[in-house]
Amino acid sequence: MCGIVGYIGGQQAAPVLLEGLTRLEHRGYDSAGLAVLGSSGLKIAKKAGRVRDLSEVLPKRFGGKAGIGHTRWATHGPANDVNAHPHTDATGTVAVVHNGIIDNAGTLRQQLTDDGVELVSDTDTEVLAHLIARSKADSLEGRVADALAVVEGTYGIAVLHADFPDRIVVARNGSPLIIGVGEKEMHVASDLGALVRYTTTVAHLDDGEMATLTAGGFTTYRQDLTTTNRAATIIDVDPAAYDAGEHDSFMHKEMLEQPAAAERVLRGRLDERFGTAHLGGLNMDARETRAIRRVKILGCGSAYYVGQMGASLLEELARIPADAEPASEFRYRDPIIEPDTLYVAVSQSGETIDTLLAVQEIRRKGGRVIGLVNVVGSAIARECDGGIYLHAGPEVAVASTKALTNMFLGFALLALQLGRVRDLSIADGKRLIAGLNRLPDQIAAILEQEDELAVTAARLAEAESLFFIGRVRGFPVAREGAQKFKEISYRHAEAYQTSELKHGPLALIAKDVPTVAIVPSDELTDRNLGALHEIAARRGPLVVVTHADVDLGDLSDGLLARIDVPRNERELDPILLTLPLQLLAYHAALVLGHDIDKPRNLAKSVTVE
Ligand code: F6R
Repeated sequence: MCGIVGYIGGQQAAPVLLEGLTRLEHRGYDSAGLAVLGSSGLKIAKKAGRVRDLSEVLPKRFGGKAGIGHTRWATHGPANDVNAHPHTDATGTVAVVHNGIIDNAGTLRQQLTDDGVELVSDTDTEVLAHLIARSKADSLEGRVADALAVVEGTYGIAVLHADFPDRIVVARNGSPLIIGVGEKEMHVASDLGALVRYTTTVAHLDDGEMATLTAGGFTTYRQDLTTTNRAATIIDVDPAAYDAGEHDSFMHKEMLEQPAAAERVLRGRLDERFGTAHLGGLNMDARETRAIRRVKILGCGSAYYVGQMGASLLEELARIPADAEPASEFRYRDPIIEPDTLYVAVSQSGETIDTLLAVQEIRRKGGRVIGLVNVVGSAIARECDGGIYLHAGPEVAVASTKALTNMFLGFALLALQLGRVRDLSIADGKRLIAGLNRLPDQIAAILEQEDELAVTAARLAEAESLFFIGRVRGFPVAREGAQKFKEISYRHAEAYQTSELKHGPLALIAKDVPTVAIVPSDELTDRNLGALHEIAARRGPLVVVTHADVDLGDLSDGLLARIDVPRNERELDPILLTLPLQLLAYHAALVLGHDIDKPRNLAKSVTVE
């Protein structure tokens, strides 16, 4: 949430920073701002709205070869020009951009006000600018360290100071910062996506670490200013992965990348001979694996819903009791951490603060936690005892698609490996492997139904309110479908267990309230069909996501559309049933004219509680 960029070198900073902010806009798009330092001192431009709104108001004379920029997702105070970053001290000498939350901002604001400082914004960040300005240390590094010494909370910050024009000072605690090394120029950003166009030589800062960037290089140190001697490394990354290319949105691009992404997560991990998976990163031997009595999966939002799908996979294949819980709730209930429970944190970004704090809570209490994480080297990945990288590639759209699919496959691999050291037969292991190998093509076949799905989506978009229903394996599918739909179409979409309809929500079924029903061909098909007929009898329109061999019977004119997905092994079917729901949400949002990649009120990577 929120994005930071910084530049110092031989070029004019503003265009470089604007380009970087455009790349980071998915992290927050309430307002944007820049500070540059040139011969006439520090200049600030900031604006509520998008980066393009900022470009439009940028003064003609906005020269400076050092600068910092920010795109904001509002936490303290509304999204307006004043609350936009950068924030300055009263004299306009110091400029600060900040990601994260200063927990003791209220106390610090009061102390500053008592000392006669006039605070102009509602933000927690502004206190940092005043605190830095009030420090009497000789160096900018010392002044920033003095300010941070009284601050509690999470931050990634970048600081410009008119009296120290040759440098940018940055600091990290809980909010990522990456330094990019160029040719006689240095960059910094909160996300790799803002850097890769300029350089792939990077250094990731650790929590508690600070850095000074000059045009000639960078130095890293702790908050007591002792050196950490961090060196930059060259990373293998394709800058094109951060471009939407011919697609009208990242979400569209990322949905279509799913067959290739699925192949990547499976590659090299399937052992056909023994019918198992090899996940070297788990860091667990067979004896430890056998000792697991329970699995507890933790994630937020869609990662939690796919965690529920993962729990089913683990119970069915490994026969280990498993459940999923929102990480955001787990850590607040003083959870009992059991030594023979395997905890699994699942996260695309590896930054989601609730999931990260849940991991820390488990480890503090001596539990073992592994991560299913997409972003390599992210905070959650580093905090876990081991894990499975998802290899989905960069996911930019706020609505998660390809990462979610790879999370499911990560769970399938985990269940296979755990199952095979326990009671899963080699024949079942081979059956699952054959199913996993079929999946990329089956995913591609569903994506080819896009045109028909677009027609159905347009009809669903007409409704103000919808239900998504499913049973057992199908229920997390319905939850994820409703999540994706509400997230980008802004329609009220509610997921329910099909079995629970009669116990209340059936009262809402009417001709203007469609239901998207997940009806796989399995042991529950007949029961699911019964519910469909009850809905049709109450004139509720139906979209049924099902398999070709399912006979829906006569739903008369209640059936808006039938969507058939290819069948796989029953344990793997949930992900194939999820795929059309992504396209339904996407096309509904498109018809309604919404900004697909930047849905209202949301942002990628929820790094604040
Ligand atoms: C939904 C979505 C969110 C994320 C959630 C967790 O499409 O993207 O619900 O799934 O915020 O994010 P990560 O996976 O980064 O921990």
